[in-house]
Amino acid sequence: MKKIKDHYFHKAKREGYVARSAYKLEEIDKKQRLLRNGNLVLDLGCSPGSWLQYASRKVGEKGQVLGVDLQTVNLSLPKNVRVLEADIFDLCAKDLEMNGGMVDVILSDMAPKTTGIRGTDAQRSDALNQQVLLLADELLRPQGSLLVKAFQGAPLEQLRREFSNSFAQVKLCKPKSSRSESVEIFLLGLGKI
Ligand SMILES: C[S@@+](CC[C@H](N)C(=O)[O-])C[C@H]1O[C@@H](n2cnc3c(N)ncnc32)[C@H](O)[C@@H]1O
Repeated sequence: MKKIKDHYFHKAKREGYVARSAYKLEEIDKKQRLLRNGNLVLDLGCSPGSWLQYASRKVGEKGQVLGVDLQTVNLSLPKNVRVLEADIFDLCAKDLEMNGGMVDVILSDMAPKTTGIRGTDAQRSDALNQQVLLLADELLRPQGSLLVKAFQGAPLEQLRREFSNSFAQVKLCKPKSSRSESVEIFLLGLGKI
């Protein structure tokens, strides 16, 4: 894969983030006030760990972040972060409870292994998001927020309708730090019903 060392790549290096993706979360968070001090946050698809780094700072010492990924996170992590190496399709809500209960925010930056075939990749991304929705149904507290990465394509409209059934507000976000040529887009549900 071609790696473009752009503005955000250099900024991430300077600011100690393991990936430039941190700025996508930062931009959405600053605009939507997603993460707050003391929050319990689940970060699905967390490796290499830049969202963990950003979220752990935002929730502070009283908050906690639980990351899940198929891949190892090779990063020294703050005390308020825990990582589970697992496939989200093998997990149920009970496995992901934090402090023995529901969470305030669920983030998913998960991406499937892409094939280059747009329709197939969008379907695979949608399958991940369907599993996230199932988990969120049980695990996310009322009024909680859910942010997922989606691929622009046919399943997105249906996913948006599903979000509308579960959240008071639904927004599509394309952060500046997400490359304009990328099909990724973020779907945000605020105020779980
Ligand atoms: C774009 S990366 C996430 C980057 C991360 N947000 C960061 O800031 O460092 C997507 C991640 O999703 C993970 N992933 C894909 N499918 C998964 C699954 N079924 N279960 C758990 N993680 C998965 C991949 O292993 C990959 O590490």
